[in-house]
Amino acid sequence: MCGIVGYVGDRPVVDILLDGLEQLEYRGYDSSGIALKCADDIKVYKAEGKLINLRNTLKSHVSEVSSSTMGIGHIRWATHGAPTLLNAHPHTCNCGNLVLVHNGIIENYKELREKLTAQGCVFRSQTDTEAVAHLVASKYAKTKDLTEAVRLATQEIEGAYALCVMHNDYKNTLVVTKRNAPLLVGIGEGEFYVASDVPAIIKHTKKAMYLNDNQIATITPEKLVLIDKDGNELPQKIEVLPWEPVALSKMGYKHFMLKEIHEQPDVVRNILVGKLHAPDEPIVLNEVKLNKETLKNLNRIQIIACGTSLHAAMVGKYLIENFCGIAVDVEASSEYIYRKTVTDAHTLVIGVSQSGETADTLTAIKQAKAKGSHILIITNRPDSAMAREADSLVPVNAGIEVSVAATKSYTAQLMAFYLLALYMAEIKESVDVPTMTSLKAEMMLLPQKIDQILSNTDEVQKCARAYANTKDFIYVARGINFPTALEGALKLKEISYINATGYPAGELKHGPIAMLDETMPVLSILMNGSVYEKLLSNSEEAKARNARMIALTNSNDEKLNDLFEHIIRVPDVQELFSPVIAMVPLQLLAYYIAEFLGKDVDQPRNLAKSVTVE
Ligand code: M6R
Repeated sequence: MCGIVGYVGDRPVVDILLDGLEQLEYRGYDSSGIALKCADDIKVYKAEGKLINLRNTLKSHVSEVSSSTMGIGHIRWATHGAPTLLNAHPHTCNCGNLVLVHNGIIENYKELREKLTAQGCVFRSQTDTEAVAHLVASKYAKTKDLTEAVRLATQEIEGAYALCVMHNDYKNTLVVTKRNAPLLVGIGEGEFYVASDVPAIIKHTKKAMYLNDNQIATITPEKLVLIDKDGNELPQKIEVLPWEPVALSKMGYKHFMLKEIHEQPDVVRNILVGKLHAPDEPIVLNEVKLNKETLKNLNRIQIIACGTSLHAAMVGKYLIENFCGIAVDVEASSEYIYRKTVTDAHTLVIGVSQSGETADTLTAIKQAKAKGSHILIITNRPDSAMAREADSLVPVNAGIEVSVAATKSYTAQLMAFYLLALYMAEIKESVDVPTMTSLKAEMMLLPQKIDQILSNTDEVQKCARAYANTKDFIYVARGINFPTALEGALKLKEISYINATGYPAGELKHGPIAMLDETMPVLSILMNGSVYEKLLSNSEEAKARNARMIALTNSNDEKLNDLFEHIIRVPDVQELFSPVIAMVPLQLLAYYIAEFLGKDVDQPRNLAKSVTVE
């Protein structure tokens, strides 16, 4: 969701910006633009759609831009106003001297717009961002100091922002700042890079500084000066990024999503390394700071997350309640932050996020932290804003996930919950030793079971072809696989745009059964275990309404052959681990349907990988 890059140094800037933006493409966007300091003027170039359109636009301007060594760039995911050229960033003040890019949402942009219009500013776009450009310019007119103008302007802005600003009066200065949106500065030799995320800069430098909220950095090729919102100079915390330059390569797969699905056996192996050595050894979670005392003092756990991470959280609730006997509530972060929650120092709050930057979850975490709760973060990005808020951390080590549809990060989050729930159970001694040993042994077998699924996808592909043209799809399950039904439906919706819904199967007869007829596929996630027979009966009920029945199962039950038109088989597994196994074919089903329909699998319409606006 919106990506910012910036550069100031002595090298030609155009390719640095374009390559940086390309590394941020995975965030999701619908237009792009760059601004370059050229000779005496700042030049702005924009394009609708994919980055290739911006590259093509620039081809006819090579001579005027090739010597520029300072610039800013942006990919925009539209929030205010359609993804048009006028609304694309960078935005300028009326005289064109001040130019900026923005990530986030300015909540009071209407008030600012009215005030600035009354002062004579003429707005050309529908964006919230343009108000910031005029506002900073109006402060600059008075102060003639770009840093001070940015500082004063941010005091009038409400909402979330990462900003990168340049001005025609400054040959080689960028001013950057942020609040509730990601931004980091990469440090080179006589040069600095600005970016919303590490992939945009990692090929140039591993030295970087993450800005904290309300800090302002003024950057020239020689130095960086950091101040707080009151203008006081701050010490700089420079970090070495624990990243290798990431070749965002599909490694021969047609799409990143398919590659990421196939990485899952290794993702499971990776997360277990160093945390679970053998079935009879305790689980090691070095960055989790919970002990017998803290667990005894807890009266509830709240898990907050969005989208796919929310579905992992629902499995997490099931596991923690089952193994530890502590009450767990799961809530979408966007709901949690707008109500009076019962959260205090006796609440453990677990935030789950692939990116660690999702605005709703970040805000929820901050709210809970302010109430004195212990904050535990499960994330794929230990360098993220959420991780920086954490008292305890479980990094899921899934590697960068490029496809907007989350796959391997979901599996890694599930694994994090197995480890965490069993870790807490060990502290609480709430699971007997033989059971614990058998659970750990099963967990260690998961990679090879996923490998088995991935080595033969014929039935899933057949199923995908059979149902690709359906308009609707229902996924049903019970118990620990109800979240699997939700996640399976979400995957299909996201990348194929088919209207898919997940239901707890027992709820079918309370309403949704009215929709069933011979046009409606119903996919039952029929995993062996406590609810198998119940779900089988619910599937019979659906079949009796002529629905087109598909089973995803690890059962050899012969009854299934008469009941289901298609059967996708997976290896047997203990019920509690079945969400890991059941999800893989559902990811593949969504993938093959979308691929069959010719959809943009990795960058589905309207979606962003990292949702940094509330
Ligand atoms: O980075 P997060 O896990 O916090 O992201 C949450 C959701 O935005 C994300 O899971 C989204 O639903 C994905 N598109 C799912 O495929």
